[in-house]
Amino acid sequence: MPTYQILIDGTWAEAVSGKHFDVFDPATGDVLARVPDAGPEDVDRAVAAARRAFEGGWRDATAQERGRVLFRLAEAVRREAPRLAELETRNSGKPIVESEFDIADVATCFEYYGGLATKLHGEVLPVPDNAISMALKEPLGVAGQIIPWNYPLLMAAWKLAPAICAGCAMVIKPAEQTPLTLLELGRLFEECGLPRGVVNVVTGFGETAGAPLVAHPGVDKIAFTGSVEVGKAVMRSAADTLKKVGLELGGKSPNIFFADADFEAAVDGALFGVFINQGEVCSAGSRVLVQRPIYKKMLEAMVAKAKTIKLGNGLDRTTKMGPLVSKEQLARVLRYQEVGKGEAKVAVGGSRASGAGLDRGWFVEPTIFYDVDNQARIAREEIFGPVMSVIPFDDEAEALRLANDTPYGLAAAVWSRDVFRCFRMVKRLQAGIVWVNHMQPTYVEAPWGGYKMSGIGRELGPWGAEEYMQIKQVHINLNEQPIGWY
Ligand code: NAI
Ligand code: MG
Repeated sequence: MPTYQILIDGTWAEAVSGKHFDVFDPATGDVLARVPDAGPEDVDRAVAAARRAFEGGWRDATAQERGRVLFRLAEAVRREAPRLAELETRNSGKPIVESEFDIADVATCFEYYGGLATKLHGEVLPVPDNAISMALKEPLGVAGQIIPWNYPLLMAAWKLAPAICAGCAMVIKPAEQTPLTLLELGRLFEECGLPRGVVNVVTGFGETAGAPLVAHPGVDKIAFTGSVEVGKAVMRSAADTLKKVGLELGGKSPNIFFADADFEAAVDGALFGVFINQGEVCSAGSRVLVQRPIYKKMLEAMVAKAKTIKLGNGLDRTTKMGPLVSKEQLARVLRYQEVGKGEAKVAVGGSRASGAGLDRGWFVEPTIFYDVDNQARIAREEIFGPVMSVIPFDDEAEALRLANDTPYGLAAAVWSRDVFRCFRMVKRLQAGIVWVNHMQPTYVEAPWGGYKMSGIGRELGPWGAEEYMQIKQVHINLNEQPIGWY
């Protein structure tokens, strides 16, 4: 069984404590690898290394140089894609086909920011004086990045690529459940020409490695993806050093189906919206709002199709749904299934999955609750598993009211053939991402982030890089006379 090390200043090392923890294969519950249990001293060393790398040259690397590093990373990831995809599936449980998609997306993300590096620039402003006024963009410095377990390497890339593009140095902490693909990526840094210390990888738990990174006075910005609870703690802790924070905190996204939607596409889109990646998706369409004329028919069609979803080990190419990532996540989803049974009616699923090949792993049945009240816990709280809540509505006004009646605002989707209705809904939905006649496609070119309690800031696109930069105003006086005030 492999034992990994952490990456500090371009050198693989043990945690100062010498401790390790186990990482599991969720399909079997077997231990897959051991990784260092890093603590505050390791975070200290990593932050110091990042600071040295930043001050010692990386801040002065040209945009062309940073871009080339990113292009090389993209190439290396494409070369290693089969191996990385397999490891991602082994460690996270997700179907191999989805891992392959994710890893390709990782490379695309590096390529995008490789290209963007030379297109980020400041501005010259028309001030009413004989002067040149400029807004220069500079890297923020050292970033701390805290990654979730649902898209392990992809979420890491969403943070690494824009930060490298912007010229920051960083300390990145993968989720304790899924650190392996990021550690493997770390092995490729040197050949890609990434100077030592620019990216430091520290494995550890939230309390002992994540929290010290957030509190560290040597860190200028924290980028976090995870739970609302921890997001709030990150913001509170970052206040002491007035760090910039970027938070992506998930949601309870509405997937809204009007009676005039293409029926086949609707059924497919509703299932895809919440069952992809075992439902462990921040933008999962976990509230399915269906207009009454098609409510019964659509529910029946969804149930029929949900029954055909093939659960199994993610390495099997025919698997459509793998296990949940951890024993804890399994317990959480099982708890919500029980809550749901007391709040609504079960159309399909509702239990831990059993059967050949499933008993040792952390599998749950794809679950559909219907006649759900939007005030029910299963309609308000993020479950982060394959659990759909179906809610009926009468008209557009009611759909909108239900859709927006949530503390979250990450994503929403609308399905209808009426283009006027679609645009009216687009304008009124309180969400950072709105899909029309689809749900989930995500592109590195387009902004990603939440309204309301789904977070702060935007990742991806030029917005993602801006979050790692600060703006310096420069005034160049061209008037050679004294100011003449006194
Ligand atoms: P979490 O928010 O505890 O973990 C996410 C990351 O934050 C991990 O890297 C973890 O080590 C780190 N972390 C935990 N506590 C920390 C702290 N005090 N300071 C700094 N970093 C800390 O999420 P968890 O417990 O794994 O999952 C619980 C729920 O959170 C899920 O059921 C889901 O609802 C939500 N979640 C949302 C995600 C999203 O994509 N928005 C991703 C993961 C979880
Ligand atoms: Mg947690």
